[in-house]
Amino acid sequence: MIERRPMIAGNWKMYTDIFESVNLVKAVSAGLRGDEEVDVLVAPPFTNLSVAKPFAENARILLAAQNMHWEESGAFTGEISGPMLRAAGCTHVILGHSERRHIFRETDEDVNRKAQAAARSGLIPIVCIGETLEEREAGKTFAVIERQLAGSLSAFLVGGDLPAGTILAYEPVWAIGTGRTATPAQAQDVHQAIRSWLTERFGGAVSGRTRVLYGGSVKPDNITDLMSEPDIDGVLVGGASLKAESFLGIVHYRK
Ligand code: 13P
Repeated sequence: MIERRPMIAGNWKMYTDIFESVNLVKAVSAGLRGDEEVDVLVAPPFTNLSVAKPFAENARILLAAQNMHWEESGAFTGEISGPMLRAAGCTHVILGHSERRHIFRETDEDVNRKAQAAARSGLIPIVCIGETLEEREAGKTFAVIERQLAGSLSAFLVGGDLPAGTILAYEPVWAIGTGRTATPAQAQDVHQAIRSWLTERFGGAVSGRTRVLYGGSVKPDNITDLMSEPDIDGVLVGGASLKAESFLGIVHYRK
């Protein structure tokens, strides 16, 4: 019984234009064998979603956006809404990525509003959390994670349930794009704390079904050890998802 089917997700950030996105989806799709027993997801930039969709769909690759606005429509120049993402073929949306939090000053409350809006639009949120190096060194990792969880999921806490399929991603800021991965034990410690928090707040059933991904310098040569930890249910990959070969090396971590 696989209660939490592993997910290997690629966050393409602000890389890949339309042509590169299509080529990358095609190359990943060509390398899938069909027996992976993992969910494969990619998150291209907004402009490339609808063009990438048919290629992704054929290969049963899930499609996510990297961000969204909390309103469904309106005078919000430059923003993209949940219904627009659904129409473009997305099933998932990444929310509260550390780059959104740190560069664009997104708060837990913003992420909370977006997560609610995602659920209303029928999109599955992938809610990102993670501490900075300074916070880790000050011994504040768990406090920061709890604060981010409570703030980013506050509307769901009030309702007492997480929308079906909701995914969390633990991405320590110091491990993103630095080549410095959390050790499997460091990641497991935090994933276990997240799992306990979910159990306390939402009960065992929700906690047991909620996938918690790890992100931060995941590569083909460290994926196997990360995935051997009991509370790591998949990964959110940045740099190594931009080349089909390395992404497939991660997808095929069981060999
Ligand atoms: P890297 O894999 O490049 O460290 O990026 C991780 C990330 O931010 C995924 O969302």
